[in-house]
Amino acid sequence: MARKKVTVVGAGNVGATCAHWIASKELADVVLIDIIEGAAKGKALDLAQSGPVMDFDLHITGGSDYAASADSDVVIITAGVPRKKKPDGTYPSRDELVKTNQDIVGQVTREVVKYSPNAILIVVSNPLDAMCHVVLEESGFPANRVIGQAGSLDTARYKTFLAMELGVSVRDIHGLVLGGHGDTMVPLPRHTSVAGIPVRELMAEDKLQAIIDRTRKGGGEIVGLIGVSAWYAPAAGTVEMVEAILKDQKRVIACATLLNGEYGYEKLFIGVPVVLGSTGIEKIIVMDLNDEEKAMLDNSANAVKDVVAVLGY
Ligand code: NAI
Ligand code: 2OP
Repeated sequence: MARKKVTVVGAGNVGATCAHWIASKELADVVLIDIIEGAAKGKALDLAQSGPVMDFDLHITGGSDYAASADSDVVIITAGVPRKKKPDGTYPSRDELVKTNQDIVGQVTREVVKYSPNAILIVVSNPLDAMCHVVLEESGFPANRVIGQAGSLDTARYKTFLAMELGVSVRDIHGLVLGGHGDTMVPLPRHTSVAGIPVRELMAEDKLQAIIDRTRKGGGEIVGLIGVSAWYAPAAGTVEMVEAILKDQKRVIACATLLNGEYGYEKLFIGVPVVLGSTGIEKIIVMDLNDEEKAMLDNSANAVKDVVAVLGY
């Protein structure tokens, strides 16, 4: 079987950690690309040198030249800039930040598709759902090959908090989180179980609602603690998707996907459960949501639409 190849664009916290998890699971050769050539080259070399100890045998390289990414099976896009103070002491508005990341993600996408026209693209850069629109637009790829990572991470956070509260293994928590990647995301308690036992049989409603609230603000909690955004769980969520694709696992994972009428939304990326396999998104699963759940998803979709409007497509 031919070796698989994954390119990670953006060798920062999330990108480098994606490379790390891919290597530790020995999923594919890895090419790290960053505008800062030394960072990509150096992190790739450092990671490659851990192979003899950690017992993986992969080609791991890095640099700024996209030619090295040619014929990747999967490309992960993590390039972007965070919200940071400008020289004049003011902060960029949300719209300015969206535009800046639109420029970066757009430029990255054009380079990526030049060299890997058949790749599956996983978008991580924020604002996530809007950046998926940028990648779809700039790549010209079919929607099944442009997938946003958010639900994997948001669901992992939700499961972690539930397991911590119940004192049970994270392995036995089942559930999912839909919607946009932001404070309006939609954890679904009615579809959450502990080894098949509905979570509401095991947990008081106030505790469950507190966990839902903590999940929605999970990204901010980490920023509050570290000062920058998270990377271990975001990268783990991304690599869960990579593995599902490379191994054709047909995993059911909530991913940001382009909806064309499903759930009542037109031409909008938002997180819903999909079947992930070797061709990317193989099926969008349409759940039978009740009125309350649909209202929450509508609220989240409206928040995503406001950001997408800034892109000007
Ligand atoms: P980081 O700042 O550590 O890394 C970003 C990297 O992108 C830097 O190394 C930078 O040099 C590079 N970069 C910037 N412009 C570039 C260009 N034009 N071409 C190539 N590389 C370029 O940031 P971090 O923490 O790794 O986050 C990356 C992105 O992922 C951010 O937009 C962040 O908000 C987002 N994120 C998304 C999550 C999700 O669940 N979807 C979770 C966590 C982060
Ligand atoms: C997170 O959820 C900021 O999207 C990033 O950690």
